[in-house]
Amino acid sequence: MSNYHIKHLEEYFQVYRKSVRDPEGFWEEIAEEHFVWRKKWDNVLSWDFEKPEVKWFDGAKLNITENCLDRHIPTRGNKTAIIFEPNDPKEETQHITYRELHQQVSRMANVLKEQGVGKGDRVCIYLPMIPELAIALLACARIGAIHSVVFAGFSSNALSTRINDCDCKLVITSDGSYRGGKTLDLKAIVDAAMDDCPGVSKVLVVKRTGGSVNMKEGRDLWLQPLLDNAYADCNAEIMDAEDPLFILYTSGSTGKPKGMVHSCGGYMVYTAYTFKNIFQYRENDVYWCTADIGWITGHSYIVYGPLANGATTVMFEGVPSYPDYSRFWEVVDKHKVNQFYTAPTAIRALAKEGLEHVEKHDLSSLKILGTVGEPINEEAWHWYNNNIGKGKSPIVDTWWQTETGGVMISPIPYVTPTTPTYATLPFIGIQPTLMDEKGEEIKGNQVSGRLCIKFPWPSMARTIWGDHKRYRETYFSAYDNKYFTGDGALRDAVGYYRITGRVDDVIIVSGHNLGTAPIEDAINEHPAVAESAIVGFPHDVKGNALYGFVILKDIGESRDRDNLRKEINQQITEQIGPIAKLDKIQFVSGLPKTRSGKIMRRILRKIAGKDTDNLGDISTLLNPEVVTEIMDNAIP
Ligand code: PRX
Repeated sequence: MSNYHIKHLEEYFQVYRKSVRDPEGFWEEIAEEHFVWRKKWDNVLSWDFEKPEVKWFDGAKLNITENCLDRHIPTRGNKTAIIFEPNDPKEETQHITYRELHQQVSRMANVLKEQGVGKGDRVCIYLPMIPELAIALLACARIGAIHSVVFAGFSSNALSTRINDCDCKLVITSDGSYRGGKTLDLKAIVDAAMDDCPGVSKVLVVKRTGGSVNMKEGRDLWLQPLLDNAYADCNAEIMDAEDPLFILYTSGSTGKPKGMVHSCGGYMVYTAYTFKNIFQYRENDVYWCTADIGWITGHSYIVYGPLANGATTVMFEGVPSYPDYSRFWEVVDKHKVNQFYTAPTAIRALAKEGLEHVEKHDLSSLKILGTVGEPINEEAWHWYNNNIGKGKSPIVDTWWQTETGGVMISPIPYVTPTTPTYATLPFIGIQPTLMDEKGEEIKGNQVSGRLCIKFPWPSMARTIWGDHKRYRETYFSAYDNKYFTGDGALRDAVGYYRITGRVDDVIIVSGHNLGTAPIEDAINEHPAVAESAIVGFPHDVKGNALYGFVILKDIGESRDRDNLRKEINQQITEQIGPIAKLDKIQFVSGLPKTRSGKIMRRILRKIAGKDTDNLGDISTLLNPEVVTEIMDNAIP
């Protein structure tokens, strides 16, 4: 029997050692005993980080939806698969059983087929957190279409860029979405995107808000009547383990977003196995991850990981602050949630609001708390531990990335002793290492460096859609034969890892990954702007917030500064979305540059973070005088 469910620390070490000594033997056992395959693999693993090329379970045939749905029907047909908790607590909760979900996915899959979608076609999903979102993912997977979910907070520009990058032929959206007290007109955003997306032939529209929308003849169709007429049964397309399952875009430090491509087989095995262990899921538990399915956390740990384990997973449409700041705790109480997984930014925002919101509700069902997306600071960790977990629910601080597909470094609750702010030990099969600036591996403990992974794991992204060269350059060229994460980390005396933050030009704001380059590009499109540079600075709720240094053209000099600030943020909202707006904008006459013309962001970061005591040597700059000017006028 394989060690599918790890129960104590000794077992963790034993299984970890096995997974590292004989990764192929280890993963073969897990794959064989816990999943259904139409055909077994010819080869467990082949890899070459030079090319780079990684293949897991090559030659195997499967469909992930048979693992997430069909196989549960005999034993869990009437078990709730998804609890849908709407934005407005007055609206009724929905419980969707495995049998119902299977039927709804089949219907949606048949609709997609009727609309001409087939294996390998790309489908863009731009939906709020409603059941149709999860169903749409699974329906694509059912017929072998590749889904590309775009978070429904991105602007029409960001949406069209992503649709065109992978040539989606069909888009699934809704009339609108609810977010707290607001309604967002999603269909209008899609309509605007469609002006730049000639390759999209059909837009399927879910009715959610009932707001008025334009339906373009021949292109736009209401989804519900199509579903009503579709068969509730649809054969699963048989996929190769290495066929793409989905594309998910993530920001890079430069240029356009990267469409990370995840595979069917390895992704399934790893997300299911990590879900089982990191949340210690037991048969009747109710599990809730508050992320949006528009991000990797939702893909792996709302949809695929939980459903592959036959779990009950909560999908929450709303926000933590609506109708008031007790909403999360009300939902935990209402559904007797056992595992609760959220982001540090949400914890910090809720901690500010006082304990009366927490104390109103019975949180005794909670057994495990999780965090993801950014480093958790000590204060937030203790608040979460004391007030939500009441000191009895271990916190799993899970470190991972869109690229890694599943959790890489994390405690296993009730197994790994936790330390505040530490992601602790590598998960089974994961071989992290720290590298120094010369490219040498840093051995021993109580050290810090750049976090790399030495050996492939099943759910790693296989490429960047349409740009394998960029995949190699971004992840495999910094260090020989290693995957470079872009993060810095330290390893303490007992070998625990603590992630210290990005070492590249990606900034994590409220747990969202933002690249500086696309934001700067958006700003530079403003007619009055000559040049700009963005850096992050510490923020007590968002973790980091954005500070922009902007050089104006002559035509901008006479303009009102506050109006310009508004216009610049408007420009960013249009190009990317409101999540990328700047908190502070300082107009400057120049940016500190090296003699080769590179912006010295290190200096700007220090100024933005009010840490100017030690700016380092600025005498080698092309324009050292500008540093004093920027410091003198810095925004408090
Ligand atoms: O910097 C790390 C941070 O989030 C980055 C990955 O972002 P994304 O691809 O959007 O995926 C987020 C959800 C998995 C990482 O490179 N990060 C993620 N989790 C943690 C973290 N930083 C510190 N601690 C974490 N637990």
